[in-house]
Amino acid sequence: MPMRRDRDLARRRPRPNPVGLSLVKVLVIGPGGREHALIRALAADPYVTDLHCAPGNAGISRDVTTHQIDAQDTEAVVALARKLGSELVIVGPEAPLAAGVADALLAAQIPVFGPTQAAAQLEASKAFAKNVMAEAGVPTAMAMVATNTQEAAEALDSFGAPYVVKDDGLAAGKGVVVTSDRAEALAHAQTCFEAGGTVVIEEFLDGPEVSVFVICDGTHAVPLAPAQDFKRIFDNDEGPNTGGMGAYSPLPWLPAGFVDEVMDRVAYPTLRDMESRGTPFTGVLYCGLAITSRGIRVIEFNARFGDPETQAVLARLKTPLGGLLMAAAKGELDDDEQLHWRPETAVGVVMAAENYPESPIKGAPITGLDAAAALEDVSVLHAGTTTNAEGEIIVDGGRVLAVVGLGADLHSARAKAYAGVAAISWDGAQHRTDIALKAANGQINIAEGTH
Ligand code: AMP
Ligand code: GLY
Repeated sequence: MPMRRDRDLARRRPRPNPVGLSLVKVLVIGPGGREHALIRALAADPYVTDLHCAPGNAGISRDVTTHQIDAQDTEAVVALARKLGSELVIVGPEAPLAAGVADALLAAQIPVFGPTQAAAQLEASKAFAKNVMAEAGVPTAMAMVATNTQEAAEALDSFGAPYVVKDDGLAAGKGVVVTSDRAEALAHAQTCFEAGGTVVIEEFLDGPEVSVFVICDGTHAVPLAPAQDFKRIFDNDEGPNTGGMGAYSPLPWLPAGFVDEVMDRVAYPTLRDMESRGTPFTGVLYCGLAITSRGIRVIEFNARFGDPETQAVLARLKTPLGGLLMAAAKGELDDDEQLHWRPETAVGVVMAAENYPESPIKGAPITGLDAAAALEDVSVLHAGTTTNAEGEIIVDGGRVLAVVGLGADLHSARAKAYAGVAAISWDGAQHRTDIALKAANGQINIAEGTH
């Protein structure tokens, strides 16, 4: 049957990608689980050849060549990209973006996926983000900026409990205190002032949270599948905030048209505003949203892929990632680009070091990594890992690994991810046992009249 054979061949051939690329050499900047997920997705892209990462971690260096440079040293990043002949540099974390790594690469005429320092202010300064949202008419929590204890106390009292107090600068997701205890709220504000900072005090947003990553080229935008992140360290969303303890995607409980609403009410107005300020936004506009009883509200913007949501989201992406990010870097994104996704659900569970998030204890040897990775539909993505003198992989950060399971539904994806987690161990390892559990049991409720 010749027809059949032709179709099979066509399926195997790489899909024409958005900018008609030939092979590209790619360098990923960053050390974490998000970067490991990017590396895995890029390695599966037939257009990507010669994939490198700096600085990476023990898991990434098993997949590609890694380079030990300081990711925030703009000159070192440019020099490495030049040496490797990189045709696309993808910057993972916020710190190098805020340090101007993208600006330096652009000045050296090296295509970069990630915003300039000025555009990265959307994440680096919560007060800046609030100004953009106000100008662009983007729905968000009401907020007041406080620079001293008296202003903070007045703002807290005007909103009432529960109190939300945010450090204005970058704090790796840990600068936010949400509490019903006024003294605790005020004490957090005081700590920020003593460190020389200002705080943003907000009205409390009720309702489930959703992360939507929007790939932007300055003008055009394409959304990825929504994900949900689990910020607190302990089950049932208890304990302090962390960088994120797990994630899943897609979200079966979202109302129809949700992503379109995010694009129309949040992403495009924000892009237009950034353009009009002369600082167009290229990279991932990470929309952290709450679905409240009064509709969607932006909790925060980030200027990069989320971690660990990326580990779950990219596990499902079939569209070649390198082509998509190259199109964004070159300003050639197509708003109508239809991304292709696996039908399965992905659940990612983070395994963290003892004493995370306060002061993670490093150095413990990790066992069971290969056994976990050998399980069907399970992948192990490294974050804070390194190799010791004996060649063992050891704990080297707060969030150590994400184990991602792919399954037909949330229950099955959870079972896969947790089977992987059960195979891995080290002294003091901790993880949440309830990632995606409420969603799997149909227990996430969206307030009536929200849509
Ligand atoms: P942020 O660093 O702004 O993302 O905040 C970290 C986490 O604090 C969010 O993911 C929410 O869980 C929580 N949070 C932040 N702002 C609010 C708010 N206005 N109302 C309720 N929870 C919030
Ligand atoms: N998962 C939350 C973040 O990346 O900020």
